[in-house]
Amino acid sequence: MEKIEITGEKPLEGKTFISGSKNAALPILASCLLIDGKIELSNLPELSDIDSMLKLLHFLNVSTHKKGRKHYIESFLIKQREAPYDLVRKMRASFLVLGPLLAKYGEAKVSLPGGCAIGARPVNIHLDGLKKLGVEFVMKDGYIYGSAKKGLVGKKITLSFPSVGATENIIMAASLANGVTTIRNAAQEPEIVDLSKFLNKTGAKISGYGEKEIKIKGVKKLHSASYSIMPDRIEAGTFALAVLGCSGNVLLKNLNKDVILHLSSIFKRIKELNTIASKDFKQLRVIANSINKKPIRLKTKTYPGFPTDLQAQLTAAFTISNGESEITETIFENRFMHVQELLRMGAKIKQSGPIVKIFGQKKIFGAEVMATDLRASSSLIIAGMMAKGKTIVNRIYHLDRGYERLEQKLLACCAKIKRI
Ligand code: UD1
Repeated sequence: MEKIEITGEKPLEGKTFISGSKNAALPILASCLLIDGKIELSNLPELSDIDSMLKLLHFLNVSTHKKGRKHYIESFLIKQREAPYDLVRKMRASFLVLGPLLAKYGEAKVSLPGGCAIGARPVNIHLDGLKKLGVEFVMKDGYIYGSAKKGLVGKKITLSFPSVGATENIIMAASLANGVTTIRNAAQEPEIVDLSKFLNKTGAKISGYGEKEIKIKGVKKLHSASYSIMPDRIEAGTFALAVLGCSGNVLLKNLNKDVILHLSSIFKRIKELNTIASKDFKQLRVIANSINKKPIRLKTKTYPGFPTDLQAQLTAAFTISNGESEITETIFENRFMHVQELLRMGAKIKQSGPIVKIFGQKKIFGAEVMATDLRASSSLIIAGMMAKGKTIVNRIYHLDRGYERLEQKLLACCAKIKRI
């Protein structure tokens, strides 16, 4: 099994290309099931989660091929409307084929995703919303069977929580429904905006995306289009927090204005992390001098708040600081698997319920540690780059799910890092 070896205490200096967003690409790929025609996608990141989604799409009679950095996708009619356990268990986002299958075929059988390392992650909000559109669900043998014999009909839906996945599943289903659907208390994340913009290019009629209320006027068919996936704000944020942890000066390339404004806003309260945008808003320079980092206190929130997907990396960056920081996780109940590993590196962290208190140290120390989920992996890499001595991160297949060649990008920024 591959591992990553890091020798720490080196400031990061250089530039790196930020890949396309995993969390935008996954629903966009799932939505290709809805479309009659050919799709050309660019800026799709090379990740194992994307490979898992492509595998599931192949199973569902979608053809995909790659030419250079572009992917060509075409969905053909299918008889078997099933997402099997083996393909869904590897990646929860596979559940996003439920809405498209129901909209296109009026029936679907999708394996229940089950729990994962960061919490229970139920799907009740997805199902409640789709029920409103006329779907009946039965649960049997670990699968959800959905059917809408008379087709989907647009309705007003109020989500009990602005779930990202549920908002996406409902948008996709409602795009081919009969009539108008309104989603209230919708998720506002930029990846929802990217999915909506993509679907609109194929002929969907979605408005209000990025706001709390989204309107979808159902259409009969969606057609061919080409689209470029938005940059990955979480990858860019991970680099910024790596610079904060290690000190340095790194130029992040291939960004856009929305991502840059979002990153500048979530990092505004971290005084030691400076961000300078280029005039065309395609590049962001992140600069940090992390000696004497002042403690922080913050909570993860839904967009535009501080993302839960950067919480583990932030925790790692503040293990070396001057005082006591407090981070509250409000989105997932169990997203602290990285804490035990950071303790093994000499960090002083106390977790009680959804709150971690970080008692800043002068130094942390290299150790052999184990990645438990995607963002925990990148937090351990940041800690390894901050630590005195050598760190080995095991189980890095978690990292490859959501970061494209992270160690090579960090190597280009002067980190002493290699895959072994
Ligand atoms: C997406 C992102 C993930 C990110 C998360 C929150 C993708 C592929 N993944 O995950 O990286 O961390 O948003 O920003 O885009 N919930 C329910 N019932 C449901 C659905 C969700 O109770 O039916 C709860 C979850 O358990 C969790 C919270 O709502 O506590 C947020 O989940 P959700 O927004 O749905 O996250 P995902 O779409 O799974």
